[in-house]
Amino acid sequence: MRRISVERVREGMELAKTLYSIDGNVLLNAGIKLKESYVRKFKEIGIDEIYINDSLSSDIVIEDIISDETRFEARMAVKRAMDNVMHGNSLDVKPVRNVVGKIVEELLSIKDAVINLQDIKTLDNYTFAHSTNVCVLSAVTGISMGYGEGQLKDLCMGALFHDIGKTKVPNEILNKAGSLTAEEYEIIKKHSRYGYDILKQNMELSAYVGYIALTHHEQFNGEGYPLGLKGKAIHEYSRIVSVADVYDAMTSNRVYRKRLNISEVVEYLVSLGDHQFDYEIVRKMIEHISVFPLGTYVTLSTGETAIVVDNNRKYPSRPVVRLIKDPYGVEYEIFREIDLTSYNNIVISNVLDDI
Ligand SMILES: [Fe+2]
Repeated sequence: MRRISVERVREGMELAKTLYSIDGNVLLNAGIKLKESYVRKFKEIGIDEIYINDSLSSDIVIEDIISDETRFEARMAVKRAMDNVMHGNSLDVKPVRNVVGKIVEELLSIKDAVINLQDIKTLDNYTFAHSTNVCVLSAVTGISMGYGEGQLKDLCMGALFHDIGKTKVPNEILNKAGSLTAEEYEIIKKHSRYGYDILKQNMELSAYVGYIALTHHEQFNGEGYPLGLKGKAIHEYSRIVSVADVYDAMTSNRVYRKRLNISEVVEYLVSLGDHQFDYEIVRKMIEHISVFPLGTYVTLSTGETAIVVDNNRKYPSRPVVRLIKDPYGVEYEIFREIDLTSYNNIVISNVLDDI
């Protein structure tokens, strides 16, 4: 299985992961043979990448670290909570609390989770899918830091609700395709305080949840907003959520920019460790992110083209790859696999969209 841009869908490719609508209904089941004519439909609903099986990737299994059911339940719970707030109703915390329990339970049952799969976002579900990803990433980091169940639940609640204040920001500013004016940016920045105001009214929530919403855009060097807090004056939960937030946003396609490769984002986070972010937290988080996820096409320093078939936990930038094409672009008759930890002279030089 591998991820491709929908523009590269060709007749006969098989859909590898079921596609769901924003309310959890099945749009297309895994296993269906794709047609080029589906591309327009995908674009209409804002799906720009899908997972497929083809002859080069059908034996590569990529598993999510939480179940599909829990992922959708989380998205729906965030959506309902945000809809409530938008319509002036009070926040119903129970569905979010229930799903947080499931997320924490599922993640605690895995030893050493590694994230290889990136979920498919549509235009409509971006905020809910993003909040769910921020929650999962924050939780695996919290587990690495030795957090107990109670701490993980507070962290997860805060992560799921971190952008709830965006319900008070006009959509045309949030989804603006062009660059923002200084005034528009100031309006967007208010979402952290709005979120805090919404969450602090709810007596069922721990104070940390509102605090995370308030301070998830603070930066380790003091250049964030709204309070301009610096270093460890920012609570550890918010320092975690802020790294997860930036990681997930940069690896997602938006109307105003294309996503970056995971390896580029990881490099960016590391380079900003101890400036914008807490380096210790960046380090803990990226231990759980596959820098070259399974199914990624890459070019090697030998000029050959290869597909990633396995991770090396200790050496994330040196996975096991299957050689597909020689340096002249000619497909090999037999696909040989090499473990890059055994070939120190070979490095991955480029990540390819497709071959
Ligand atoms: Fe935010």
